[in-house]
Amino acid sequence: MSTPFRSGAFRLSPSDYSALTDAAQQNPEVYWQNQSTRLDWIRSPSSAQDTGNGWFADGTLNASVNCLDRHLESRGEQIGLIWQAEEADHVVRLTYRDLHARVCQMANVLRDHGISRGDRVAIHLPTVIEGVVGMLACARLGAIHVVLFGGFSPEAIADRLADSGATLVITANVGRRGAKRIPFKTTMDSALSLRPETLSVRSVLVVSVTDEPVPMQAGRDELLTPLLEKAETSCPAETMASTDPLFLLYTSGSTGKPKGIVHGTGGYLTWASYTHELVFDHQKGDVFWCTADIGWITGHSYVVYGPLSNGGTILLFEGMPSHPTPGRWWEVIQSHKVTTFYTSPTAIRALMREGNDLPRQYDLTSLRVLGTVGEPISQEAWSWFDDVIGGGRCAFVDTWWQTESGGIMISPVPGAVKEKPASATLPLPGVHPVLLDDKGQVLDGATEGVLCLDGSWPGRALTIWNDDALFQTTYLRPYPGHYFTGDGARRDEDGYYWITGRVDDVINVSGHRIGSAEIEDALAAEHAIVESAAIGIPHDLKGQGIIVYAVARDPSHPELEMLAVRAITAKVGRYAVPEKVYIVPDLPKTRSGKNVRRLMRKIACGETDGLGDLSTLADPEIVDVLIRIVQG
Ligand code: WTA
Repeated sequence: MSTPFRSGAFRLSPSDYSALTDAAQQNPEVYWQNQSTRLDWIRSPSSAQDTGNGWFADGTLNASVNCLDRHLESRGEQIGLIWQAEEADHVVRLTYRDLHARVCQMANVLRDHGISRGDRVAIHLPTVIEGVVGMLACARLGAIHVVLFGGFSPEAIADRLADSGATLVITANVGRRGAKRIPFKTTMDSALSLRPETLSVRSVLVVSVTDEPVPMQAGRDELLTPLLEKAETSCPAETMASTDPLFLLYTSGSTGKPKGIVHGTGGYLTWASYTHELVFDHQKGDVFWCTADIGWITGHSYVVYGPLSNGGTILLFEGMPSHPTPGRWWEVIQSHKVTTFYTSPTAIRALMREGNDLPRQYDLTSLRVLGTVGEPISQEAWSWFDDVIGGGRCAFVDTWWQTESGGIMISPVPGAVKEKPASATLPLPGVHPVLLDDKGQVLDGATEGVLCLDGSWPGRALTIWNDDALFQTTYLRPYPGHYFTGDGARRDEDGYYWITGRVDDVINVSGHRIGSAEIEDALAAEHAIVESAAIGIPHDLKGQGIIVYAVARDPSHPELEMLAVRAITAKVGRYAVPEKVYIVPDLPKTRSGKNVRRLMRKIACGETDGLGDLSTLADPEIVDVLIRIVQG
């Protein structure tokens, strides 16, 4: 089934899409050279290809200049950022000129604290303006930002601070969540006290989100607001090589600890700008609302770098979708006349539950493009969003991409690529997906397989921080000659892609990537648990939920489940808490000692018919035991 083709209001047509795709195919070098001119370079790159070390290698530029300074002449008085507080009557509007001044002030404060090019600065904030400003201030100085998601536990923060070698942290006294206060500063304090010998943090700058006081350590901690007020509103920008890192962002894989994905400056920014313009049909006057937290890649590319490099207007909303009323998001769209609304399937599933009448009480006719990202969306959720929120008038972009890709890879282009509900549709011009079988053979036509990408693209991550060998093994080695995404996909007879989910041991809970190994490592540190396996199973609201099978040292211990949950909360964060912990006598293993996750997944899902050949298990009897435990 395909939806009626909506064109007319959009910049591109199907023939434009074909022309771009052909141009990128026929002469990629010229195509990407042209695309690079969307940025202002200090020295234009003489080549437009991936040197293996990043794109546009001899070009130089500054990312904050591209997001701010270059707009000052043409749109200095245009609103660049709207910050909507939880309270409906509290709105801050910053013009590009204001934003530029704020970023310069922040950069000057950072510089006064010894930050210069190449240094790592951790940003751990709720949705406040200082998050965006902090990122761009780092970019201005050539410092590398490391944004940490607000939901991380102290342990998770400490690991990332240690690995990145961050010397300065920007955090907040608290975050606001309705009447609740999220203790950002004390969480950071705990992180900093965990393994101080592994850390290099010298300064902690604290944004006062409320006037609640928090403990401050003399010589290390300072309130940021008074420093910003005193700082100069101009600050020279560093000249950076295109391949200099712009940021590190930690993400989970199937093995080991989260990896610091490194994105470069020129290639990444070209990609953020290119994809934001193409996929969201960016036009003058748009109000762009991406609901992602800046702690994730979506926040980097589509709250900050994409829309600001294109001179757009971004909206940041401090609050939650349904606080204080379930219609809060719709009210925000109505009051700011949002044109482009980019969110997650998880949020849509939750909002759908509130029914159709509620959104219909708001004027949502400003919307032109709706987008989703982060997880597969069901046809039901797609149609609800399209119809009830978009009124059937909007373009719908189901965008597939990942932290490592830097920006959107497979997505409809409004007006130019016909949508099919719940399909990410076609690759963007210049992107080359392929589907492979288990043996690494490329599959043709309508088929299903492992999703890989051929060739390079400007947004591709440069490497993993401190571990280039791991970058090679994770992405380039599994299917030689192709870039391995970790996802599976189906391709239909029209060449459309339907993402089927991860083929590795990454669990996607509400769009958050969580490695099974992260949970298992957290449990390994809990003395009462000998061994465990974490798996993902379908969940109505979250997309996937986590199930843990754990083998206890003493199965009669009365509080094993609680201990397990506590260990995961402490090591990873509350967002990784499992739906259920099954205490089991053993895990199903092959004779060579490998956990058979497929089996554990089926049992947890209640799919106990047709479990397949169990003769390869070291102990086939364990299967019935697990079934009995799961069925209670
Ligand atoms: C999943 C988020 C289905 C996928 C930008 C990918 C999706 C992982 C989609 C990356 C989509 C992302 N449909 N699945 N439209 N978009 N995913 O790094 O499994 O946080 O590999 O980046 O999310 O998650 P990450």
